[in-house]
Amino acid sequence: MKKIVSLIVLIVGISYASGVKPVDNQLYKDECASCHFGFQPGLLPARSWVKLMGDLENHFKDDASLDKKDVETLTQYLVKNSSDNSRNYKRSRKITDSIPRSSTPVRVSQTPYFKKEHRELRETMISQKEVKSIANCTACHTTASKGVYKERYINIPNYGKWDD
Ligand code: HEC
Ligand code: HEC
Repeated sequence: MKKIVSLIVLIVGISYASGVKPVDNQLYKDECASCHFGFQPGLLPARSWVKLMGDLENHFKDDASLDKKDVETLTQYLVKNSSDNSRNYKRSRKITDSIPRSSTPVRVSQTPYFKKEHRELRETMISQKEVKSIANCTACHTTASKGVYKERYINIPNYGKWDD
């Protein structure tokens, strides 16, 4: 029995490590997952988070500013769990390795790995009202909040519409 339990734990562990680490910080959930899905820190390298957190007043045309202490606490959390510091998670590793050292993207959706994985999506699949933006991860990835982005859990809204 013990052996079976540890085998299950091992298998679950492996499947999770293939994604990105789920968000485990309440302040982050409160402040960074109110306007949109709480992007996991492991989706961008540390330098990207530092850049993004350094200009929250001009946050993609929105004002997402916070007091200095919260900015510091959140930046620490993001850097500690950033993609370059989460190399034991396969997706984080792939994201990190896809970005040239000289570039600092502030969008997950602009990282080369992300672009490659989503290159087959049609524009109409993204612009439809159920999705609206490629940054709306949960519209297609039903397990995104668990850090799991596997193909088998993808459900593109109205997918049948585009079947040829
Ligand atoms: C006032 C609303 C608001 C708050 C609060 C907010 N954001 Fe955003 N965020 C936006 C908008 C709007 C976008 C652009 C979304 C789009 O292009 O679809 C965005 C986009 C992003 C993106 C880029 C997504 C992509 O890959 O295209 C990241 C990363 C991000 N936010 C992180 C954060 C973090 C970290 C915090 C907390 C410090 C935060 N946001 C708080 C409104 C907000
Ligand atoms: C319009 C639907 C849609 C949206 C929105 C979307 N994705 Fe995807 N995603 C897909 C599809 C389709 C694939 C490709 C699946 C395949 O061929 O393996 C994919 C692949 C991925 C993969 C690779 C999975 C693997 O196992 O190879 C990751 C990681 C991922 N998406 C993350 C994200 C994140 C993070 C967001 C939000 C910033 C996002 N996606 C937004 C549809 C979407």
